[in-house]
Formats: sequence, C-alpha cells, structure tokens
Amino acid sequence: MEKRYGLIGEPIEHSLSPAMHNFWFKESGVSGDYKAYSVPMQELAETVERLKAIGIHGFNVTFPHKTAIMPLLDEVSTLAETIGAVNTVVQSNGRLIGYNTDGMGFLEGLKAHFPMLATQKPSVLIIGAGGAARSVALVLAQAICSRIDICNRTFERALILSESCKKFCTSQALNFAQAEKQIDQYQIIINTTSLGLYPETDHQVIKIDGAASNTLFVDLIYRPNRTAFLNDAERLGYRVMNGLPMLVCQGALAFQKWTGVYPDTKKMEDYLIRTFLS
Ligand SMILES: NC(=O)c1ccc[n+]([C@@H]2O[C@H](COP(=O)([O-])OP(=O)(O)OC[C@H]3O[C@@H](n4cnc5c(N)ncnc54)[C@H](OP(=O)(O)O)[C@@H]3O)[C@@H](O)[C@H]2O)c1
Repeated sequence: MEKRYGLIGEPIEHSLSPAMHNFWFKESGVSGDYKAYSVPMQELAETVERLKAIGIHGFNVTFPHKTAIMPLLDEVSTLAETIGAVNTVVQSNGRLIGYNTDGMGFLEGLKAHFPMLATQKPSVLIIGAGGAARSVALVLAQAICSRIDICNRTFERALILSESCKKFCTSQALNFAQAEKQIDQYQIIINTTSLGLYPETDHQVIKIDGAASNTLFVDLIYRPNRTAFLNDAERLGYRVMNGLPMLVCQGALAFQKWTGVYPDTKKMEDYLIRTFLS
C-alpha cells in the first residue's frame, strides 16, 4: 500500500511542500502520497492521535504548531529540543519521533550555493530572534561559525538566543543601532524577520551600507524572490541568496528521514521557480 505523508499547520493553502514532496516521490520511484492538512490549534492533539492511528509514515509541522507539538510526541531529537521546535515527524514502530530540519536545511542550502563560505569559520549577523532565527543560529553556531551575533527589535529575545549560541561559539546580543555600527565585521548577514513579506515588501530592518565587500546577504523569505533587504544588498554590489534553498533543503532532509533517499535539490529549486515563483 502507498505510504502516507503530510503537513499540518494553519494556514497551509500556499505551502509548496505538497508539490515538492509529491514531485520527489514520483522522481525517486519511492511510493508515497503527501497531503496538507489545515489544523487549528485546538485540534492539534486529536489530529496527532488520528495521524498516528491511521499509520501515517511521516509528516511536517509548520506554523503555529512547531513548539506546541513537542509534548504530544513520543520522542524529540536533541537538536529539536535545543531549538525548541519540531518541523518533521517520523513514525517508527508506532512511535512518533520529532526532528528539526530547518537549521540544517539552511546550512545545506548555503553549502550548495556558497561552498567555500561554510568552510571559512565565518562571523555571522542574524537579524531577528524568532523561531526561524533560533533554528538557523543554533545550527550555524554548532557547525560552522567562529562568531554569531543576534540583533532584534525586542532586545530581550536577542539576549536569550545569544546566550544559547554562546554554548557553541562567541556571540553578542545587539540592538539595531549597534549592529549598523559594526556591520563591516561579518561575512554573512541573515534577515530572519518577517519584514519584507507582503504587504511590508518595501520595509528594511537595518542599514547595510558599509558592510565588507565580500559579505553574503541572505533573507529567509523566498516570496517575493527579492525582499527590500536583498534588493538593497544587490544594488550595493553584494552577493545575495533568498530563502528558497533553505525551504528545499529542509524538505530534502525530511524526505531523507522518511525514505532514506536524499533527493535532487537543485532540480527542485528550478522546478519551484518555474512552476510557482516566477
Ligand atoms: N525559507 C524557509 O524555509 C523559511 C523557514 C522558516 C521561516 N521562514 C521565514 O522566516 C521569517 C520569520 O519566521 P519565524 O517563524 O521566525 O517568525 P517569528 O517567530 O514570528 O519571528 C519574527 C521575527 O521578526 C521580527 N519582526 C517582525 N516584524 C518586525 C518589524 N516590523 N520590525 C522588526 N522586526 C520585526 C520579530 O521581532 P520581535 O521579536 O521584536 O517581535 C522576530 O524576530 C518569515 O518570513 C518566514 O516566512 C522561512
């Protein structure tokens, strides 16, 4: 029988995950069907029980359930526990095990597009301190960074994330003015805030002129393809990357956990741009 997979969240109507995973199932010859389920918070617990009962093989978790699902699972990986969020669940012998592939997905996307940078122990500035910032910062801090600074509108959240990163590398919490003052000290600057998403597409969080000439600017947003942040960076001559490689690679890592196959991520980026994002 075809194995079942899915995504739970709300809203999920615009998610690219069903198209992505069903493409990979077809492409890899692995049998599977992936569906999106819109699940309001008050129905989360009973939905998880139901998915377990129908023998779902695995599922993704998105906004607003990434943290709320954790106590409903039988086991959570150390990385997901450190990040405080789960985006991928595997059912194994009737047990639901939670993982977080967001941060690793970011790192894989970075390695795919800028392989040298990841080996150079970069200094990184993260703008924002929400859920996505946590998953990216904690993986980069453990895996590649010599230093990772966090700046955020709500300074206390920057402090909390910076303290967590200090277990793995040097880290400082900054306000926006402090970050602008030392903008020349980073090899990678990552916007993880939701500023730049429709309808705030022309908004920018910090001033970026004065950054070192080889700095890579990254935005986790992929719709629009270029946020005001990336447009500014590109106009000033910097290298840029949007959130599509992260989206595709976090999905590829989930697909690998479910099937043992790591799919072709470059082909998927091209497919999503051609079909949904241009
Ligand atoms: N490419 C991918 O695969 C991927 C994966 C996950 C998320 N994302 C994207 O990442 C972004 C953040 O998601 P999230 O889950 O981390 O959201 P979140 O937990 O709600 O965090 C939002 C962050 O944005 C900041 N922010 C919001 N509005 C702001 C404003 N007007 N000025 C300055 N800062 C502002 C918040 O600052 P405060 O703390 O001060 O409120 C916080 O740091 C979203 O755009 C999402 O689409 C992409």
